[in-house]
Amino acid sequence: MMKILIFNQKGGVGKTTTALNLGAGLAKASGKTVTLVDLDPQTHLTAAMGLRAETLPWNVSHWLADNQKFQPEIISAQLQLIAGDCNPPLQRPLNTPLKTQTDYVIIDAPPMWTPEVASLMQLCDWVLTPMEPEFLSMQGISRLMQRMEIENIPWSRLRLLLCRYDDRLVVHREVRARLTERFGQNLLAEVIRNNVRLAESPGYGQNIFDYAPTSAGAEDYATLVKTILALENYSMERG
Ligand SMILES: Nc1ncnc2c1ncn2[C@@H]1O[C@H](COP(=O)(O)OP(=O)(O)OP(=O)(O)O)[C@@H](O)[C@H]1O
Ligand SMILES: [Mg+2]
Repeated sequence: MMKILIFNQKGGVGKTTTALNLGAGLAKASGKTVTLVDLDPQTHLTAAMGLRAETLPWNVSHWLADNQKFQPEIISAQLQLIAGDCNPPLQRPLNTPLKTQTDYVIIDAPPMWTPEVASLMQLCDWVLTPMEPEFLSMQGISRLMQRMEIENIPWSRLRLLLCRYDDRLVVHREVRARLTERFGQNLLAEVIRNNVRLAESPGYGQNIFDYAPTSAGAEDYATLVKTILALENYSMERG
């Protein structure tokens, strides 16, 4: 099982969009099962999948409480969701939370550093950090890496993903170049371009592959899927 935590303490950078579309893309490309976990009390991931957290029988709290009857919400043959729980917010660190039978677990974390986030970083294989191509975002990444160091989480686990990228903007190109210089292989070579279809699709409760399969957004997330599958091989080779 491969476990990916999607995290950035900055809000609105593309975490939920990445969780949804990476999950859907992995399910389609690999034919294996993907479990998406909506750990953000805003429950945006649940909503982006066309579901309402309040009307579902199970949520993150039941999953963490290890309720024997717990079943993730089945979205399609390969995709399932552990829906967000608005209330009460998670109080305790996660100990052994990833028991779900599945090939991939993708966790959409809230935009803040919490004890849960730290323990999930310990449990997950990869920390995928979507970020916007702005100079100030770089400071946030340095702070994130300091936090990881304090918690003894290896930086080799971190991958930065530029989202809402526009090649026509000098500032975006400059930030990309600086990030490459500063963070090396922690920065993924591929970017997710700014694409209005990605902004529209949650309104229809659909992932980008169903909503706009020929869009730039679908193309970019399909490329990300390939990169993640390659990371899986890389981890297996390293044992
Ligand atoms: N590549 C993109 N192109 C255009 N719009 C995008 C793109 N990625 C995300 N968006 C839009 O930007 C907004 C923020 O994205 P998203 O909700 O994924 O961020 P987030 O990091 O999960 O936010 P939060 O911290 O509030 O959970 C949303 O309206 C989303 O549809
Ligand atoms: Mg979000």
